[in-house]
Amino acid sequence: MYRLLFTLVLRRLDAEAVHHLTVRALAVLSALPLLKRLLHRALAPRDEALRVSAFGVHFPGPLGLAAGFDKDAACAEALSAFGFGHVEVGTITAHAQPGNPRPRLFRVVGKRAVINRMGFNNAGAEAAARRLRRTRGVPVVVGVNIGKTKVVPEAEAAADYVASAKELAPLADYLVVNVSSPNTPGLRNLQAVELLRPLLTSVKEVADSTPRRTPLLVKIAPDLADEDVDAVADLALELGLDGIIATNTTIRHGGETGGLSGRPLKGRSLEVLRRLRARVGDRLTLVSVGGVEDVDDVWERLLAGATLVQGYTGMIYGGPLWAATIHRQLARRLKRHGLTSVRDLIGRTAPR
Ligand SMILES: Cc1cc2nc3c(=O)[nH]c(=O)nc-3n(C[C@H](O)[C@H](O)[C@H](O)COP(=O)(O)O)c2cc1C
Repeated sequence: MYRLLFTLVLRRLDAEAVHHLTVRALAVLSALPLLKRLLHRALAPRDEALRVSAFGVHFPGPLGLAAGFDKDAACAEALSAFGFGHVEVGTITAHAQPGNPRPRLFRVVGKRAVINRMGFNNAGAEAAARRLRRTRGVPVVVGVNIGKTKVVPEAEAAADYVASAKELAPLADYLVVNVSSPNTPGLRNLQAVELLRPLLTSVKEVADSTPRRTPLLVKIAPDLADEDVDAVADLALELGLDGIIATNTTIRHGGETGGLSGRPLKGRSLEVLRRLRARVGDRLTLVSVGGVEDVDDVWERLLAGATLVQGYTGMIYGGPLWAATIHRQLARRLKRHGLTSVRDLIGRTAPR
């Protein structure tokens, strides 16, 4: 049904227009408590075998929505009602900003991929905080992903991230420092350990000072050299971070300027996950994202050592029931293998 709708209608429309329409519809749904609850009852993961805990937070299922879809924290509850085990909102910057000129979002249908150069279009940390403070009608685990405001120079990056963290860490189930998006000039330089150490140290101080101590993760690019992946992993351990999210989009492609996501990213994303697992074992929570399309991919990421898995482009091509279907298939497959919990899968094929 969705495939037909996609082929006949959606793919002919401007990708960003479809996106905004979807977010608006989900925001309306977020404001309709009864419908939201009904959907949640029908689609949210409720099989006990799917439950996972990471950094003190309980997730109803391992598959969540990656950052970039709900940039302004407008519809996290509705997304949870559609079956995502968590929703990472953002990237949110300290100051509101319009992002890059349009067009800036392109489907690459033949490759089940997307290229985007959105540039952190968002209404800023204060506006997001106001939304996140609204009471919740259905349970939702919300990660908050923060980035640098474009006009802020690199030398003042830490203060800019800290401003967002102060506003948002108290409202987040976990906080993510995003230093890996390709569409803010210079952002990915912050992945270099000598710049990353002071930045993460300052944000961690803020995250540690909230009443519940907000878990802190860092999100990295697939285009880092392997030694740099190791260096970030070592730094995350040294600073006592809770986890690493790998990976963001890649700039290694021959298409439009921007970051490529979806199927072509699958191989490198899995490679980075395996490298991270080999380096840190189970001392950090690893969140794997990039090219996840179906239950086989989720299964593979869990086996390779991810505790949580995220997707975005998979949903664009898979439709609104994408997460709910994968969770249902995952529960069934666990039973077929005689496993009582998804936790028994994590890291099973990773070398010890
Ligand atoms: C349109 C679009 C916007 C994105 N915006 C963000 C963002 O604001 N912050 C972020 O950390 N990642 C962002 N991402 C990257 C995704 O979170 C994810 O890391 C990447 O797309 C790989 O996963 P996928 O192959 O499942 O899409 C964006 C991705 C897409 C497709």
